[in-house]
Amino acid sequence: MTDKTKRVAFVTGGAQGIGKAICERLSNDGLKIAVADFNEAGAKEVANEINAHGGEAIAVKVDVSDRDNVFAAVAETVEKLGGFDVIVNNAGLGPQTPLESITYETYRKVFDVNVGGTLWGIQAAIKAFKDLGHGGKIINASSQAGQEGNPGLAVYGGTKFAIRGITQTAAKELAPLDITVNAYCPGIVKTPMMMDIAQKTADEAGKPFDWGMEQFSQNITLKRLSEPEDVAACVSYLASKDSDYMTGQALIIDGGMVF
Ligand code: NAI
Repeated sequence: MTDKTKRVAFVTGGAQGIGKAICERLSNDGLKIAVADFNEAGAKEVANEINAHGGEAIAVKVDVSDRDNVFAAVAETVEKLGGFDVIVNNAGLGPQTPLESITYETYRKVFDVNVGGTLWGIQAAIKAFKDLGHGGKIINASSQAGQEGNPGLAVYGGTKFAIRGITQTAAKELAPLDITVNAYCPGIVKTPMMMDIAQKTADEAGKPFDWGMEQFSQNITLKRLSEPEDVAACVSYLASKDSDYMTGQALIIDGGMVF
């Protein structure tokens, strides 16, 4: 029997990395969690861990680049968890693509997941909020790479700039429905996505993995990479009632890379 007093959060890309930390943090904050990911086994593992620690979570299989699929996953969440209050559009792909090697396929895939996934998440959340007769919170994953240009990130950075634009637009459009829309902009976070990039950087330079990781911390004022939990703390605030008077913003949580 689901606890009707608890708010519900739907977190895409919840099976690993930042998304997993967000699921755990929002559960600790007292929300019920839909761990939404196309990695179903990973999502189930995260949901099981949350349930084992006294929270309430379900795993929902979703491909965020597929609009119908996102609507179905949100509907499944409403049915199983009995509500819908927060969506975290976190799933994303982050390939390194130097300008001259960008292919049509890479461009399409990354925009379909990062930008398409955010748009479909927003649309599905609006429908759920309207059906339930209340407002809610939409939280989107942008990035430090959505604040300034970085070599090799024309496609990825392009999607993250777009997500900031979508966030600002949606904030203005959805305010009358009592829906706030904000984004978070992580810097360099120790997740599988980043480990892959560090490994590639090190391999290309013929250096060890640790050297690849060290290259990242050089441009960070705090001289350390971010833990996924640092970002989850920022999302916790954006999902809480404490941020009710905030909309259209992109909170930068990057150890001081951009300021
Ligand atoms: P990650 O690669 O470790 O995890 C991404 C998750 O999203 C995976 O569980 C994957 O299965 C899921 N996913 C990918 N495509 C999907 C799809 N089409 N449908 C459903 N699920 C899908 O990524 P990480 O590092 O945790 O990043 C999370 C978000 O934070 C992304 O939007 C990323 O762009 C953003 N970000 C990450 C930074 C970092 O340093 N790791 C820095 C700035 C932003």
